[in-house]
Amino acid sequence: MLALPGGSVASAFLPTLARRQLPWSSIHLFWVDERAVAVTATASNVGLARRIAAGTPMQAALWHAAAASPAVLDTAALAYGRSLAAVAGEPPVVDVVLLGVGEDGHVASIFPNSTRGTDGAIVAAVHDAPKDPPHRISFTLSTICAARHVVVAAFGSSKHAAVLDALTNPGSGLPLAAVLRGTPAPRSLLLLDEEAAGRLHRPPTSP
Ligand code: 6PG
Repeated sequence: MLALPGGSVASAFLPTLARRQLPWSSIHLFWVDERAVAVTATASNVGLARRIAAGTPMQAALWHAAAASPAVLDTAALAYGRSLAAVAGEPPVVDVVLLGVGEDGHVASIFPNSTRGTDGAIVAAVHDAPKDPPHRISFTLSTICAARHVVVAAFGSSKHAAVLDALTNPGSGLPLAAVLRGTPAPRSLLLLDEEAAGRLHRPPTSP
C-alpha cells in the first residue's frame, strides 16, 4: 500500500516507479491529498499519476482515487478515510507514504497554522488552502505519522528555509517538522538535493 503526493515529487518519482516490475495488481495506491478538481483536470493529483502511468506496469495497481469536489468536500474526505480504513485498518497504517514539501513547510495539504491533522480524522477536508486550488482533501498528520515508512522529498532552493527550520528548530511548528518528529528514523527518510539542503549540506572531504 502506497500513498502518493502531487506536485513536483510525483513528476520526479512516478515515471521511474511506474516502469518497475512490481506486483502491482496487489498494490493499493492512495493519494496523500487531492485537489477538488475533475480527475481529468491538469491540477488533479490522481490525473497526473494516471497520465504518467499510462502504458506502464503501474496501471495494473489498485487505484483509490478520491472523488473530491468543492460542494461535497467534507463527505468526500469521510468517504476517502473509510476507503483507506477498509484497506489499511482503523486507524490506518499505510506501508509507505511519499510526501513533497511546500515552500511554507506544508506536507500533503496540511498547511502551517492549520489545526487539521490533530482532529482525530483519517482524512480532512481543506477549504482554505493558501496554495491553489483552495479546496482539497488531505491525509491528516495522524494518518501520515502512523505509516510504516514515510519518505519526504524536497528539491530546490525554495524549500531550504522550511527544511532548515524543521531540522534545526526544536520548536518548529511546520507540518514538515511535525511529520519528522512523528516518524523518527528509521521510519522516515528525508531526500534533499543540494539546493534544498543548502548550508546543511557538507560536501564529502577528500581523504
Ligand atoms: C499537492 C501536494 C503537495 C505538494 C507540495 C509541494 O497536491 O499540492 O501533494 O503537498 O507535495 O505542495 O509541491 P511541489 O513539489 O510541486 O513544490
